[in-house]
Amino acid sequence: MSASDLLVANGLVAGYGEMQILHGIGLRLAQGEVVTVIGPNGCGKSTLLKTLIGIIHPTAGKIVLGGHDITSTQTRARLRVGLGYVPQVRNVFATMTTEENLLMGLVAIPGNVRERLEAVREILPTLSEYWNATAGRLSGGQQQIVALGRALMASPKVLLLDEPSAGLSPKATDEVFGHIRAISSQGGVGVVLVEQNAHKALAISDRCYVLAEGRNRLDGDAASIAANPEVGRIYLGAGDAADRP
Ligand SMILES: Nc1ncnc2c1ncn2[C@@H]1O[C@H](COP(=O)(O)OP(=O)(O)OP(=O)(O)O)[C@@H](O)[C@H]1O
Ligand SMILES: [Mg+2]
Repeated sequence: MSASDLLVANGLVAGYGEMQILHGIGLRLAQGEVVTVIGPNGCGKSTLLKTLIGIIHPTAGKIVLGGHDITSTQTRARLRVGLGYVPQVRNVFATMTTEENLLMGLVAIPGNVRERLEAVREILPTLSEYWNATAGRLSGGQQQIVALGRALMASPKVLLLDEPSAGLSPKATDEVFGHIRAISSQGGVGVVLVEQNAHKALAISDRCYVLAEGRNRLDGDAASIAANPEVGRIYLGAGDAADRP
């Protein structure tokens, strides 16, 4: 672990009941860094984020945030100490307005509502365009920005984002990714970005982890992962079991 590490996970073993999905995954994240996690469908990316936020508790391994061991803490406690999470699906309250969705971001966390609303509006100015609109009627990209805004209400140190580009047009993806990069570079927030849209995600990332079947397969700086021919094979799910020693 280096001094700049904000979030460090080691040897995570987790799953659902008897079914083990993560077989000893590790990951580290520094302040202001965007780290992308890619891998084939079903390899455990969402399960990893659920384990980091505490929806699932690992049977082995350790999670350290800002030097504190949070492995056995509840989700609510993790939100309080600076983890934020935007799930893969159903990440806005559809019948609530944008503003009400943002307010939900402070339900479990103490914070000055007015100050935080203003701060998030400054970070994501486009929210003002649909501030009083019902979230369920917004476009997919707008809903993602509302979900990001809700997570930012709690002033997180780390954001865990599960496929923020899912279902978005290329233009909306660019907008959402632009916000993610800025939140990290300008706000100092560390971001773990799980993505299917590997090329675009790598373009805004500092580093990348490639998972396969619940294990770390490769990691490195984003440019070298993007240029690695093995990544295409793993990512497409081909040759994975066949070329393992
Ligand atoms: N709630 C659950 N109960 C039981 N099994 C689950 C549950 N959620 C996921 N799984 C299983 O765990 C494995 C990993 O799922 P996970 O959602 O972590 O994959 P993923 O890498 O995020 O995939 P995708 O790219 O499709 O989002 C899959 O085999 C999936 O069927
Ligand atoms: Mg997933």
